[in-house]
Amino acid sequence: MNIKKWSYNPKGELQWRGHSVVDVLRDQAYSKPIYFYDLAYVQSRAKFFKEQAPHGAEIFYAMKANSHPEVLRTLDAASIGMDVVSLGEIELAVKAGVLPSKIIFSGVGKTKHEITEAIKLQVRQINVESLPELERIANIAQKLKSKVSVVLRVNPDVNVTTHPYIATGFRDNKFGIDQQQLEQAVQILKSNSFVEFKGFSQHIGSQIFNVSDFAEAFSKMMILEKQFRQQGLASEVLDVGGGLGIFYDQDNEEQEQELCIQYMKSLMAVVESSHLKTEVQNRSVRIQFEPGRWLVGHAGFLLSQVQYVKSTAYKNFLILDTGMHHLMRPCLYEAYHEILPVVLRSAKETYDVVGPICESSDFLARDRQMTQTHPEDFVVIADCGAYGYSMASNYNAHQLPEERLWPR
Ligand code: LLP
Repeated sequence: MNIKKWSYNPKGELQWRGHSVVDVLRDQAYSKPIYFYDLAYVQSRAKFFKEQAPHGAEIFYAMKANSHPEVLRTLDAASIGMDVVSLGEIELAVKAGVLPSKIIFSGVGKTKHEITEAIKLQVRQINVESLPELERIANIAQKLKSKVSVVLRVNPDVNVTTHPYIATGFRDNKFGIDQQQLEQAVQILKSNSFVEFKGFSQHIGSQIFNVSDFAEAFSKMMILEKQFRQQGLASEVLDVGGGLGIFYDQDNEEQEQELCIQYMKSLMAVVESSHLKTEVQNRSVRIQFEPGRWLVGHAGFLLSQVQYVKSTAYKNFLILDTGMHHLMRPCLYEAYHEILPVVLRSAKETYDVVGPICESSDFLARDRQMTQTHPEDFVVIADCGAYGYSMASNYNAHQLPEERLWPR
């Protein structure tokens, strides 16, 4: 149960970060489900993450988590760059005022058009995911007669504890260049003067709590860096990706801050015991981070209205005007999100909380014990500032939800 971000005032009305949801609804009419975001909270998470990161480190927000322009502007103003995975994301970032020199272009399937536009725009670096992609980038750069900075994303072959759909650093995953193929990358890099090797990157997955997983992958990257350095390809940047987890089943800011501190410590321990200790200290090698969820996950919630309560001999269904089309996480990863009624009642009930979509996978919670709720009541689905709206669709020709900023 979220106890601190969420509370009920003496009237039994739900409050989020000090404001009553009922008051907000009174001021701004409701016509369809709404994602609310709290920019002040995004700011505070960004500040904390930056303060914990080693001196001279650079942070690039993985904007696939939430690309609302105000979220991007807030992070840009906090001197955080963007990690993007499509030309669409590049365009959104640039439209929000982010300079191309603060954009890292990641992703396994970059098209010729996307690479061409990224090079023309002079993004900071392209994180390369395969040998064919490296060749494609080299050819395009040569044609354009334009230099491009590349960072090789390595598949470190680590098996992390998270949902298999969001684990990316195992050898069976499509992500990153296989370590055994890196020698071929050296050949490509040395034979083309338009591609400038800048270093290595990794991203081993998402919603990870075991900080030693990150350290294990980072240690492997250090070994590769040493081999490359010996061949005249010294890294300027080491990008450790994103993936730090947040707690969806409890509101424990202190514990998450502690996790962030441990995460930084375990990565810095790798640096300390590596051949690059001095280089990182004097910043001739810079550590890069790509957090997504950690910065924005708790900064948003989804407001929805109950349409029906359907009770059978087997189940109570709480049927909402939102569902898997607006928040995919429960159906895709069986992810847990707290669901809270906007007005508290004393009776309890167990519900399957479902949406209007014509699929049995359209659930937001199963067998969830919560406050009894009636048709036309409002409920809140908590902690969906990350991978909520950005994964929403208009499946079944439903409208996308609205997005609004939470009043300060
Ligand atoms: N860097 C790269 C290259 C990534 O692919 C990702 C996320 C990140 C950074 C940021 O990861 P984060 O810090 O947010 O864990 N839809 C899933 C999460 C998929 C993450 C995809 N890549 C979910 O809702 O849990």
